[in-house]
Amino acid sequence: MNKICVIKGDGIGPEIINEAIRVLKVVRPDLEYTECLMGGAAIDAVGVPLPQETIDVALNSNAVLFGAIGGEKWDKLERHLRPESGLLALRKALGVFANLRPAFVYDGLEELSTIKASVVKGVDLLVVRELTGGIYFGQPREKLADRAYNTMVYTRDEIIRIAKIGFESAMKRRKKLCMVDKANVLETSALWREVCDELAVNYPEVELSYMYVDNAAMQLIKNPKQFDVILTENLFGDILSDEASMVVGSIGLLASASIGGKVGLYEPIHGSAPDIAGQGIANPIATILSAAMMLRFALNDEVSALKIENAVKRVISEGYGCADLANAKIKLNTQEMGELVAKYC
Ligand code: IPM
Ligand code: MG
Repeated sequence: MNKICVIKGDGIGPEIINEAIRVLKVVRPDLEYTECLMGGAAIDAVGVPLPQETIDVALNSNAVLFGAIGGEKWDKLERHLRPESGLLALRKALGVFANLRPAFVYDGLEELSTIKASVVKGVDLLVVRELTGGIYFGQPREKLADRAYNTMVYTRDEIIRIAKIGFESAMKRRKKLCMVDKANVLETSALWREVCDELAVNYPEVELSYMYVDNAAMQLIKNPKQFDVILTENLFGDILSDEASMVVGSIGLLASASIGGKVGLYEPIHGSAPDIAGQGIANPIATILSAAMMLRFALNDEVSALKIENAVKRVISEGYGCADLANAKIKLNTQEMGELVAKYC
């Protein structure tokens, strides 16, 4: 039996997860779901953003399917009690050091981007972001009254394992790998380059290049088509993956997979959107596509993953969309979108 730990979370989380499960039930009726708490919902119920029970269930599942967390209500709590701390702790507990964020412009949806259609047409890139190291987790860290500091730290082994995922991802795509760093300033970046140079020998077909992060931020807007796989550390990847999503235009379409640990975590890249929560208008496609990534990576079920991805492509090509897709000819609500994708699977 394949067990899925489901974390609906806050805001639009429950609405979009329900539709992803609706679609999953069509392609994989055999999956078993256990609902767990994290984020604001967990804080309200038990006082902490990541209950031990959630970690236990997650570690005993084949995958974690997650919606979104957070909201103004919990923003004033101490940092370790905020919803985001729950997500960071879950990533660490699962050991998911590799975050894959594909950014893909669908034919006909070029106008969604604020960048010229001619520049974004055909963009198909993947950000491979290191997820459990770097400045997010580095020690020491402290906020004093008049001084505060964080530590950006990487070990050789941490870099090797994520760089391998970068090279391997490139091998499955157009074989171009761009490592993004700040090697003109940071020692950690110098170590990343050393490791990538060493590994490159094992992947002679991959064209490896390096780019400083400030330039990469610029190049992503200027000519995003030059990128195939972008490999980068945690903080740079956080920033560049949001930028890549805006090259595409709708954050409601982009999925992500966090892998490499005992159990993978699959989630849309957007947040909990409290402003539209409960109205049934959020676009569930990013979550549905995350479920497809889950089938591909966690259950090794490429056939079902493609069924879902092709159904989404068909829905979009026929002009359907939710409120976030401004130029969609036929507007659907969250549930109608889930039902249509399920029907096309
Ligand atoms: C993301 C988010 C998280 C991060 C936050 C919510 C902690 O921005 O998944 O990109 O910074 O990693
Ligand atoms: Mg982010």
